[in-house]
Amino acid sequence: MTRTPAPFPAARLRRLRRTNALRDMVQEHRLGVADLIWPVFVRDGEGVEEPIPSMPGVARRSIDRVVRAAAEAAELGIPAICLFPYTDAALRTEDCTEAWSPDNLTNRAIRAIKAEVPEIAVMTDIALDPYNANGHDGFVVDGEIVNDDTVAALVKMGLAQAEAGADILGPSDMMDGRIGALRTALEAAGHRDVAILSYAAKFASGFYGPFRDAVGAGSRLVGDKKTYQINPANRDEALACVARDLAEGADMVMVKPGMAYLDICRAVKDRFAAPTFAYQVSGEYAMLVAAAQNGWLDGDKVMLESLLAFRRAGCDGVLSYFAPRVAQLLRAG
Ligand code: PBG
Repeated sequence: MTRTPAPFPAARLRRLRRTNALRDMVQEHRLGVADLIWPVFVRDGEGVEEPIPSMPGVARRSIDRVVRAAAEAAELGIPAICLFPYTDAALRTEDCTEAWSPDNLTNRAIRAIKAEVPEIAVMTDIALDPYNANGHDGFVVDGEIVNDDTVAALVKMGLAQAEAGADILGPSDMMDGRIGALRTALEAAGHRDVAILSYAAKFASGFYGPFRDAVGAGSRLVGDKKTYQINPANRDEALACVARDLAEGADMVMVKPGMAYLDICRAVKDRFAAPTFAYQVSGEYAMLVAAAQNGWLDGDKVMLESLLAFRRAGCDGVLSYFAPRVAQLLRAG
């Protein structure tokens, strides 16, 4: 519904924009620290924070530093952290067995965080790309990314993460049938309270470039991901994916990337009324930071404006590399 303002001058919409107090009173949407999920990159070693050139301000951290980051995040009031591994070259194979090893980087990091910072929710990523010799999210057989065998592997991966203590599993692979298979396996294994935040509407986007550098999958990627990620031109298909994942038991759904897909966020929230998240992905982060570093944009201002836009578009929360910076700003008021 849209209100019809009285004719001018009875209605002067500028009246309520005149002072800070009036603007605050009528503000429709707000961004809070509880709306943030912080994606973090994990690598081997001790005491290491290795900068990622295409994501200024973001680093790959060794597990001890990830634990420290989780403690800082919890202290700032950030409710969840999401882990992405930078796997050793020797452990990237075509059979991807490291993906479901109980002692892979992600699973060790989950256990370390849960031991030291139990109050923060730990989210994971489920997809084979950080472990795959060819950078794909699924097994590649004769040049094809095979669906059903990949789903079986993803289930093993998710179970290992649940076993390690993950609170939220994030399947980001876009295989068909993975949510149902994962939910069934989790229930059968007694992990009935482990939640699934499905990357339900995930598009085949150019905005993932810096992330692929960060997890070391970009230079290895053979071809592209268009046979499993959604065509950026398709909205009905994205909504079908969300409907399907919710029907299979997803507790929460995500739209990814974020800024170029706000129409999808709004449609998902309006149509399904489920907990809805967006991922402000690596390329979105990189563009804003690069422009700010050049002095072309006010970095903090556009960061807050871009995140508020997700709330206005109906999202309950946002995965953002800006999370700790935003939390600090929001705390400072
Ligand atoms: C991999 C995955 C990707 C991202 C999250 N999980 C990249 C891809 O699909 O190639 C991207 C996140 C980002 O760009 O910040 N399954």
